Amino acid sequence: MGGLLFGYDTGVINGANVFLRDHFQIASDAQYGWVCSCALVGCIIGAGGAGYMGDFLGRRKSLLVCAVLFGISAVGSAFPRSVDEFVIYRIIGGIGVGASSLLSPIYIAEMAPARLRGRLVSVNQLAIVVGILLAFFTNYFIQNYGSERVVGQLAWNVAYGWRWMFGLETFAAVVFFLMLFLIPDSPRFLMAREKKDAAKTVLGRVGTEAEAAAQIKEIQAVLNEEKGTLADLLRPGMKIALLIAIALAVFQQWSGINAIMYYSTNVFKEAGYDSDAAFAFSVGVGVTNLAFTFVGIALVDRLGRKPLLIAGAAVQTVALTTVAIAFALELPALVLIAIPVYVGAFAFSLGPVTWVVISEIFPTKIRGRAMSIATLILWIACYLLSQTFPMLLEGIGASGTFAIYAGISLMCAVFVFMVVPETKGMSLEEIEGFWSKRK
Ligand code: BGC
Repeated sequence: MGGLLFGYDTGVINGANVFLRDHFQIASDAQYGWVCSCALVGCIIGAGGAGYMGDFLGRRKSLLVCAVLFGISAVGSAFPRSVDEFVIYRIIGGIGVGASSLLSPIYIAEMAPARLRGRLVSVNQLAIVVGILLAFFTNYFIQNYGSERVVGQLAWNVAYGWRWMFGLETFAAVVFFLMLFLIPDSPRFLMAREKKDAAKTVLGRVGTEAEAAAQIKEIQAVLNEEKGTLADLLRPGMKIALLIAIALAVFQQWSGINAIMYYSTNVFKEAGYDSDAAFAFSVGVGVTNLAFTFVGIALVDRLGRKPLLIAGAAVQTVALTTVAIAFALELPALVLIAIPVYVGAFAFSLGPVTWVVISEIFPTKIRGRAMSIATLILWIACYLLSQTFPMLLEGIGASGTFAIYAGISLMCAVFVFMVVPETKGMSLEEIEGFWSKRK
């Protein structure tokens, strides 16, 4: 549900924004851009603060705070009295998105048995993608429902449609809130708080009792080694873990995925298709994203993180280079083939695996705060990309822009090949031991 709300909240603006603009008669492009992207500022704040909250309150209670933020944002952005009020409620929702974008994977990674961890954290990515698609479909449905209705002089969509689009998120927020009462705190967090019996009970629910006892010993031994300060990150070996997390976060964003997720309709129009076709192709992109996330889930614990990342980044490089060439030679059909290939490659590799890796490579006592640094940078990178994409299109054209994203994908493949270790099948404590031994 955390991932679903993350996806819905980011996807919903794409479609609702047009009616909102009419409703509030937003004339300036700058203000319109701000209305569309202000939630990302909330994401940056949420990602920056949630790590501290997660280490302090626990992952579960912090997720409860996120559910409340989602609820307030959904109701508030459906009934704003002014644009400024709308922006405030979107930022509140963004804080929830940023915070849950790291708390959900951390919680899952800390709950999951080592052999299934990659798969289970990737289910969070699946939820994000489903959330994006869900927003897309509900927006489409609401918009069609409204197109027949007229209220006075104002179209139904401009008066009410967009309110439904944002307001519907309330249901998911309430379900999320209630469901959080059914789950326990993560065993690693409980152990860090010296609640050994509670941790053992939780581990016993996930695996056998013997496994639980062995895990408790392992977690205890590692926790005894940790001081739990951010200075731990400067220990030999740990610095490289931080570098890997930050680099993957930036590569995930700067290889351009949200240029497609946020602007696909514009991209297809730029290639020469009309509005209707561009809209239909965007649905195709969403479906491809979903389908290939399943491939990632199936392979991440079998093949491992590293081969998936290298293969995905390599295919991205080829596909994005093809997009660049297709724009340069004005071959719209080639754009239409290469973009889904790019999205598919992202969906089985950098999409889920980035979140898997950054949720598993830090020590338990500082995992929240350390992952916060990486996630904060991920959201800043996301903001910069979505801010610069239209400017790049205008300035150097589509071909040059996609060539840059291709170059970044290639750098990613080389970086993963040279620097990222394989963490498939290792327990979180074994991964930590691995860093400590590394000089
Ligand atoms: C990324 C998001 C992106 C989504 C697309 C996630 O892993 O963090 O920025 O919009 O994948 O599927």
